[in-house]
Amino acid sequence: MKIIPSLVLFALLSGGASAQTVSRMDDLTAEAKAAATDITLTGTLSTTGNSDLRQLRDLCWQLRRADLSKADCPVLPANAFHSRHRLAEILLPANLKRLGSQAFFACDALTTLSLPATLDSIGEAAFSGCAVLQEVTIAGTPVIGAFAFQNCDALRTVRLTSAVPPVADATAFETIDPETCRLVVPEGSEKAYKKAEGWNVFFNKKQKSDGDIVCSPADVLLPIPESVAVDADAKPLRVKCSWRISAAAGLENEAAQAARILGERTGQAVATDKGRNVLTLCLDPSLSDDEAYILSITETGVDIKGRTAAGVFYGLMTLEQLLRADAAALCCDVIPATVVSDAPRTHIRELMVDPARIFVPFEELKAFIPEMARYKFNALHLHLVDDQAWRIEIKKYPELTANASSRVGMDDMQMPISGYYTQAQMKELVAYAATYHVDVVPEIEMPGHEVAAIHCFPQLTCGGKEVPIRTTCGVSDDLLCPGSEFTYEFLGNVFRELAEVFPSPYIHLGGDEAGNPALDCWTNCTDCRALKQRLGITTTDRSENWRLQKYLFDRMIDTLRTKYDKTPMFWYETDFKEIQEGCVTFAWRVGLTDAAVQAAIRNKARIMLCPGEHCYFDYPMARGDMPEVNWGMPVTTLYETYSLDPSWGQGEEFERNNLFGVAGTLWSECINSPERIYYQAYPRAQALSEVGWSRADVRSWEGFLKRLAPTLRDMRRRGVTFSTAF
Ligand code: ACM
Ligand code: ZN
Repeated sequence: MKIIPSLVLFALLSGGASAQTVSRMDDLTAEAKAAATDITLTGTLSTTGNSDLRQLRDLCWQLRRADLSKADCPVLPANAFHSRHRLAEILLPANLKRLGSQAFFACDALTTLSLPATLDSIGEAAFSGCAVLQEVTIAGTPVIGAFAFQNCDALRTVRLTSAVPPVADATAFETIDPETCRLVVPEGSEKAYKKAEGWNVFFNKKQKSDGDIVCSPADVLLPIPESVAVDADAKPLRVKCSWRISAAAGLENEAAQAARILGERTGQAVATDKGRNVLTLCLDPSLSDDEAYILSITETGVDIKGRTAAGVFYGLMTLEQLLRADAAALCCDVIPATVVSDAPRTHIRELMVDPARIFVPFEELKAFIPEMARYKFNALHLHLVDDQAWRIEIKKYPELTANASSRVGMDDMQMPISGYYTQAQMKELVAYAATYHVDVVPEIEMPGHEVAAIHCFPQLTCGGKEVPIRTTCGVSDDLLCPGSEFTYEFLGNVFRELAEVFPSPYIHLGGDEAGNPALDCWTNCTDCRALKQRLGITTTDRSENWRLQKYLFDRMIDTLRTKYDKTPMFWYETDFKEIQEGCVTFAWRVGLTDAAVQAAIRNKARIMLCPGEHCYFDYPMARGDMPEVNWGMPVTTLYETYSLDPSWGQGEEFERNNLFGVAGTLWSECINSPERIYYQAYPRAQALSEVGWSRADVRSWEGFLKRLAPTLRDMRRRGVTFSTAF
């Protein structure tokens, strides 16, 4: 086996800066794109499909400088350079008219920017998160969209050539500090800029306030609660006063979360001993559900009661949305007297992240948790291994991370992808997630999607075959050998260490895409044949290999249950006809949910709904949305996500006995930056949160869209990326 340490890999590809001048990206070889640090394009650039711009963004992973000044390119589309962290300099096309939303989102190496006089519009959040951008020159009068320069905290000079202020959204420069950032405008035009919306922030002049911002509770909560009762006759709560928190014993974490939320929203420190408004957190065992809560707003403060700490936490998530209100500002001024009574419809609301295909650095993974908790998700499923990498430290088998966590390439993206999580990091993640009431569920695949392990231990597969790490998406035909005792010893040792790191009651065993033809590798293997003989499996119509798969699962399920008290989970496959009682099966394949639901009912199992048509958030949300180039993914629209019926037309008995929850997947074959995980997730994850949390009779698509608007506006304000393709 050839071992290539990650540093050597990195040096191989990152060594040697490369400058290229060509007409179009197609004039460069794949190797030249991967090596390029400085590219000048001079031709007519394409902007859809595998366009010049998509190639610049996704294939030129080392790009530091792009000169498009001689190119013909009137439109830089949305997301053109989304989260390109190395891009330090861009010369924009001289004929540029339109710059799409989030075009330079989180380009946090970009220092200066000159916008040509031809430019008509700058999209929302176009430069949001360009954290080291110091100087911007705007030559013409483009209309500047909302939050265009959000969190550009290093901005020192914004220079304009027009004496007439360009039309700018009030939030275009919302986060600039007028003490440190100068606005340079033509002589004599200062007055006009001082008065103009969006520009007045440079003069330390806050926008004219139209009076108090008053929250309208029914219009801002997502997922929608069971009931929201506003008492318009009672005195409302004034939010921007001093606050004190009073929390019952056992709610120390929730008190800390409450202090954080109040501090972030109101901008005031929160005390435990004095304050005009009181936030009271307590437990009430009479509530109907562990996650249920009642939140009461009165003139003097807020009371949140939960049956458990989780319920209190969800009350706090609701309170934060009330404080945010319509997102006209970070925090509203007034909330009417209101009682919110709420409880979840399903008990597991999960998002799945895949650091195996493209690694997600630990701090970025952690940062994903608070955002999902806002919408009352309570499980983060980690797809820790696959054909392309092994990403979790296993102390018994250090070879796994030493030899299978670094590679070059994910399909046409020829970049080094490297990294794994230590067990100490995973314990830290689990503890951190618990403060947001999120359970971390690990997944180790079997018998397919296991090439990373097989690469390290060829004896795991039939005939001891040596298999390279996979660098493309798709399904490998190399499976674990169920006829070899080493397979059980290996999995047993891995699960023993996982059980110690992850306190979750669940472990996911994968089980997907290991059918025919891959299973044929078990037909001629001596060890597999011997096992079939021992088990009395005599069929020769290929069903024998499915039975062997069931044997493998039965043994591991038994180990997990009896030794570690874990409930096993796996992806549903039709041929794998029996689902072991009490297990959780995931309905994921497009068009197969009916079969999965019936199998779960028949086998007294529980089922997680994540059908591709509704819940695969790695799929583009609209044609042409990211990822523009992929392995043939269909589109999963926001409406399709919202229209998922978690009871799948089965009614209450199914919901009570079988339905486990809902999950959204974020497979990362085409997600090449941590920011793009959010882009793929939201707003579909918000739609799914309402599917999973809210009762059918209180939700509606129109109502969701209405409540989504302030939710997304607040994300923009907080600098969080999402797709607008709906
Ligand atoms: C899957 O998408 N292969 C579960
Ligand atoms: Zn075998």
